[in-house]
Amino acid sequence: MNVVGKIIAVHSYKGGTGKTLLSVNLAAAFAKRGKRVCLFDLDFRAPSLATLLKVEKADHWLNDYLNGTCEIDKVLMDLTDRIHNGGKLFVGLANPSTEAIRDISAKDRKWEMRALGRLLALRNSLLDEKGIDYLIFDTSPGLQYSSINAIVSSDLVIVATTSDRSDVDGTKRMLKELYELFEKKTEIILNKVLEAPTRSGKDFQAKVKDIYQVPLLGIVPCFCDILKAEGNTIFAEEKPDHPFTRILDEMANTIEKSA
Ligand SMILES: Nc1ncnc2c1ncn2[C@@H]1O[C@H](COP(=O)(O)OP(=O)(O)O)[C@@H](O)[C@H]1O
Ligand SMILES: [Mg+2]
Repeated sequence: MNVVGKIIAVHSYKGGTGKTLLSVNLAAAFAKRGKRVCLFDLDFRAPSLATLLKVEKADHWLNDYLNGTCEIDKVLMDLTDRIHNGGKLFVGLANPSTEAIRDISAKDRKWEMRALGRLLALRNSLLDEKGIDYLIFDTSPGLQYSSINAIVSSDLVIVATTSDRSDVDGTKRMLKELYELFEKKTEIILNKVLEAPTRSGKDFQAKVKDIYQVPLLGIVPCFCDILKAEGNTIFAEEKPDHPFTRILDEMANTIEKSA
């Protein structure tokens, strides 16, 4: 039985802060380190993993699992062949059809409570029984019910934030009113940073500690290469020597060490 498995929710206050990019590449970084990884798209209002991972169709979606119409094994897609000399990479996708987005947006609290039960059950079915080392949740921004469920179910919340003023303020509020409330271990990723970090990011460390009062997991500059790739590249896999990949490898290492 696997006892060190960990559930990580990647969240943010605003959209477009890099949650999906960071989730996918962190999952790939862990898989490259020989880990058994599951990556879930819990952004049911704007699903993006299916497109990003170029999966044309799926017989079962996470929507079906949360609806209670299928078990999790049916949803899992094995994408291990995309990762070279690594561990395992499974994904669970959100249904990107307009109908499915409308359907899940109209769910009531009772449904959401049952969905939380299904998310919590994953610790047993995936971590304990399937030996998954890391289950990563890519979430919707802000206070969506589905994101709160993802946060409640996780061991670690990674908050992707930019230097945008409204993002900083919103992130600060969420730290106090959401993650702290649920007593979640929370770490920050400063993404799309324009000024190059100096002195191995020590000034940033202090700044983050001062503003957010939680540890800084990493600093990610804004890379033109990422924009140029237009969502077509999993850097952690296809560009192993790219500085972005190295930063993600370092984050995976930090998370692994703090297990
Ligand atoms: N560090 C970065 N440098 C350049 N572009 C980035 C960076 N992080 C994210 N992006 C781009 O910003 C856009 C939004 O990222 P995405 O991961 O979809 O955000 P979210 O999932 O939080 O909405 C994408 O086009 C992505 O490639
Ligand atoms: Mg996203």
